[in-house]
Amino acid sequence: MASPPPTILSSASATDVAQTCAAYNLSTAEFHELHARAATAKATAYCPYSRFRVGAVLLTRAGAYISGANVENASYPVTTCAERVAFGTAVTAGHRGFKAVAVATDVAPPASPCGMCRQCIREFCALDTPVLMFDKDGMYAVMRLETLLPLSFGPESLGVQPQT
Ligand code: THU
Repeated sequence: MASPPPTILSSASATDVAQTCAAYNLSTAEFHELHARAATAKATAYCPYSRFRVGAVLLTRAGAYISGANVENASYPVTTCAERVAFGTAVTAGHRGFKAVAVATDVAPPASPCGMCRQCIREFCALDTPVLMFDKDGMYAVMRLETLLPLSFGPESLGVQPQT
């Protein structure tokens, strides 16, 4: 049986934001920062083919924010999604221990990370990490990684200690 669609919430609603922050162990300042930075990151997308801008931002447990956006290619499969650009930037700068992932797009309802990006998130984040998905109007959905990618394959499947 298909799982129910996620609840769509409003970032303009103090009640919605407070409930989200309590459930996912975020401060309201972190929530609004994730939203603002993900939306801003869209402006850095290189997407002349799809014209579909995606902004991503990662919040580390140390309090750093790392942004990324999608980078397309004339050879379409070479395209890199916003989430993977953000993780590549973060990981090569030495960041580990991610507290939340946020993405923003220009569509509504909120778009969710593609399968490849869910697997990328899985490499670096604990299964209970919240993934916040913002739409063009500031509405959002939030799901834990384990819900977005059930029965997942990860570092420990290969006997490697995950660096989450
Ligand atoms: N895209 C992302 O950046 N993240 C996703 O999770 C889904 C798709 C990008 C890839 C491509 O540049 C555009 O959105 C349309 O697929």
